[in-house]
Parts: sequence; structure tokens; C-alpha cells
Amino acid sequence: MRIYVPLDAAAKALGADDVAAAIRAEADARGLDVEIVRNGTRGMVWLEPLVEIEDADGRRGYGPLTVDDVPALFDGTLETLGDVEKIPFFARQTRLTFARCGLIDPLNIDDYEAHGGLAGLRRAIQMTSENIVEEVKTSGLRGRGGAGFPTGIKWETVLHAKGAQKYIICNADEGDSGTFADRMIMEGDPFVLIEGMVIAGLGVGATKGYVYSRSEYPDANAVFAEAIGIALERGLIGPDVLGSDRRFDLELRIGAGAYVCGEETSLMNSLEGKRGVVRAKPPLPAYRGLFNRPTVVNNLLSLATIPAIFEKGAEHYADFGLGRSKGTMPIQIAGNVKYGGLFETAFGMPLGELVNEIAGGTASGRPVKAVQVGGPLGAYMPPEKFDTPFGYEEFDGQGGLIGHAGIVVFDDTVDMLQMARFAMEFCAIESCGKCTPCRIGAVRGVETIDRIAHGDPDAPALLADLCETMRGGSLCALGGFTPFPVMSALTHFPDDFAPAREAAE
Ligand SMILES: Cc1cc2nc3c(=O)[nH]c(=O)nc-3n(C[C@H](O)[C@H](O)[C@H](O)COP(=O)(O)O)c2cc1C
Ligand code: SF4
Repeated sequence: MRIYVPLDAAAKALGADDVAAAIRAEADARGLDVEIVRNGTRGMVWLEPLVEIEDADGRRGYGPLTVDDVPALFDGTLETLGDVEKIPFFARQTRLTFARCGLIDPLNIDDYEAHGGLAGLRRAIQMTSENIVEEVKTSGLRGRGGAGFPTGIKWETVLHAKGAQKYIICNADEGDSGTFADRMIMEGDPFVLIEGMVIAGLGVGATKGYVYSRSEYPDANAVFAEAIGIALERGLIGPDVLGSDRRFDLELRIGAGAYVCGEETSLMNSLEGKRGVVRAKPPLPAYRGLFNRPTVVNNLLSLATIPAIFEKGAEHYADFGLGRSKGTMPIQIAGNVKYGGLFETAFGMPLGELVNEIAGGTASGRPVKAVQVGGPLGAYMPPEKFDTPFGYEEFDGQGGLIGHAGIVVFDDTVDMLQMARFAMEFCAIESCGKCTPCRIGAVRGVETIDRIAHGDPDAPALLADLCETMRGGSLCALGGFTPFPVMSALTHFPDDFAPAREAAE
């Protein structure tokens, strides 16, 4: 009998290690031959620790499982969730990037291969660099890290850029609020990222890759470091990738966790051992990136989606989605929700369906007041905008952004003035300090919101003016996009900013 117990950080935080130890002890006490596999998570966080038993009858889930449940688990008297892939939250998904996460032993490369792994790379090895880049362009894949820039065009630029050495950087900094998909891949299916980076290397002619992660992700970093060692041993990376006579070396680098180090030029400074300050563009990293060499900087999800594109074909991938938002997006549902977790689906599902049906509405049972999509720089969407389909252009048209696709839900007890203040304060704290609108504007923004809270009738117009200056005058999106959450809060929830507020209190 094989028993799966997730090693995912969320599952561990909810007691998975203790449950695994209790299962081991109980199996030993009963003299049973049990293999415990520490898998990644299926992404249904409200069921964690979600344990699965695999025997002749298939795989059955139990969760959330406690140490006290373990004897009943072995007695066969514990209520089962049945096949976890039939749980509606899971069954409604289209899992391409996350196809193996939670299913396999993340550090077993044979298991990885048995479930479709390496097929994409084997195909890419037979292709020219131009054909690899063309395949990515055909897939329509757009960067999953925030801006939605077409990945194939970025790769094409690096392919044609002149440079003796080129680099692939995986941006695994994942600093957005409510996001955890990058971490889930590193913990649950690390070889898919390695495979994607190797294909990127073959596509643009880069022989060296870096994964830039953060110190707040100790479990992900430990699993990924081990995966690199195994990949090297098994010839997936190194001097002779899968016997192709092509080289690709890979290193994991860990930053200290500054939000701005997720910005690609700041990230490269950090990788070079410098302070994480944003560089002015141009030159684009595609021409002069890490150590001044042509560099692909892609989000982890963009790179982890590459193997599926090469395994199944670009057209298969491009068939999913809506308009220019092709393929699937791993949406991360968090905040005040009944069913939080990772939901990968084709672009196009309306926001309201995600919040009310998939996430089951609020955990508190109170009405939803606002949803912030796209991290700390994303707009707050009121329920009136719930018809908006999940797509880059569709969100843009509603004054919002998809970003890294983190959804954070709030019920009607939230004070939107405080949320606007938080956005400004976040920007003030995380600013790299290079440009004035962001460095000083965010501090003045906090003060101006406090003036609104104290009933100053001139302050709302001043705040709008300040936001306009930050939007137009900031060097990067940290200062430039902070107006999104601030102004969306002010526009959609004017009652929370009403001057009468203070007087009535
Ligand atoms: C302040 C700031 C923080 C960012 N943080 C991240 C991040 O954590 N992860 C990420 O992939 N991209 C982040 N980005 C976007 C990157 O600069 C870059 O566009 C992205 O990594 C490119 O990859 P993609 O094309 O695959 O999306 C951030 C941008 C800004 C302005
Ligand atoms: S907007 Fe802020 S974070 Fe970005 S470069 Fe300017 S000071 Fe730095």
C-alpha cells in the first residue's frame, strides 16, 4: 500500500509532517508494508493535510486529516473523500501547467517521466532554435509574471541578440499577495521547471540558467535544490542534456525577500550581488541583461508551462483561452473564501464565477465586498464588475490587471480606506528609492489618505492628483501601479472615504 502525504508548505503548516510520522508509526505497529510518498499538493488547501491511499482499488483521499484520525484511517472506518480528482473544485479545472502537481513524487524523475515529463524536451532537442521559438509564439503564451508580454517574442529577441554568453533567469520571487503557484511547482513538480528552462536555453542559445527564489520559501528551496542535484545526476542538465551534446547548467539563488527584487532589472542587480535597485530601460534585458549579456527573464509559471506546450503541441495549448489570452492560467484563490487554493483553468471564466462558485463565496458567510486581483498593485474589483471574464484585455478594460493571478477576497467588514492606505504604505516600504514619485509620493499618499480619514475635504482631489503623478512619473510598476488599488478603492467604495465618516464616529 502506498500513502501520499503532501510535503507542500501549506500542508506542513497544517500538520502534514506530524500526520506522516503518525502514519509511519501506526503502519509499523500493525506490521504493514506501507510506502509513504511525500507528494506536492493538489491545491485544495481547505482539505490539507490531504492524504491519499493507493491500493488495488485506486487512490482515495482523506482530509483534512489529523494525527488522531490515523488509527481510523488504517481501520478503514474513516470517511473518505473518494477520488480527489472528482471533487468539483478539482474536476472543473484544466490542468496543463499543474498536471502532475500533487499526483507524483516530486523528486522521482522516473515518476515524472511516466506522467508525460521530458516528452517536451525530447521533442525540442530535435528542433532548431528558430523552430522552438516559433512553437512558443504559436502557443500564444504570455508572461505569467504580470505584464502578459508574449514569451515567444521575448525569446526571439534573445535568440537574435549578439552575445558570447546568454542566460535564462526564472523569476521565482513571487512577492504578490495571495500568490503561491510558483512555490507549489517548486515543491510539487520541480522537474517541470527545469525542463522548461532547458527548452528555453535550447531556444535562445543560452547555456546557463538561474532560478531566483526568496528566503521565505525554505521548503521550496530545499526541494528544488535536491531536484537540481538529481537532474544533474540523470543528465537532464549539465554538459550533455539527455545525450544531445548540448549544455545547460542551472543554479538556484535565494534573495532576501524584497518585493522590488521581483522586478526583472532589480532582480538581475540582486543576482549580480548588487543592491536590488531598478535599472532604467532600455537597454532591455533581452539585449543587455545579467552581466550585460542577452537574458531571458521569465516568470516561473511561464517556464513551467513550456514542457506542456512542447509535449502536446502549440495548437493544443492555444485552443484554450479567450481572445489574445491563450491557454490556461493557474489562478490562486485566497483571502476570505470557503475554498481557497489553486485553480487552473482556461482564460475566460467570469470573476464572479470564480469567487462565488469555485471559491464558494466568503468563509465568514458575509457578502463579498471587494476582490483584489493581481497582487498588491492590482485594482479592487467590486461585485458590480463580477461579469468581467478572466483575460488580460478584459481586466485592463475594467481598470484592473491579472498580474500573477492571485485573487484575494474580502467580505463587507473590510474598510476600503484602510486598504488604500495599506497599498500606499506597502509602496513606501518596498520602494527601491530610485525615483521621486514612488519614494516620496507613497509617503505623502499615506498622509493624504489619513487626511481623508480625518475629514479634510480637499484631500480626495489631492490624492487623485498624486496618483496621476505616480502613474505617469514612476520608473517601474511599483510606483506606477500603486494608484490602481488606491484609486479603485476610492472610486468604487466612496462611502468608506466620505468626510462624514470621522464626524459620525
Ligand atoms: C515591483 C515589481 C515586482 C515584480 N515581481 C515579480 C515577481 O515576483 N515575479 C515575476 O515573475 N515577475 C515579477 N515582476 C515582473 C517582472 O519584472 C518581469 O516582467 C517578469 O518576471 C517577466 O516574466 P514573464 O514575461 O514570464 O511574465 C515584477 C515587476 C515589478 C514592477
Ligand atoms: S517606481 Fe519605485 S520601485 Fe520602481 S524604480 Fe521608482 S522608486 Fe524604484
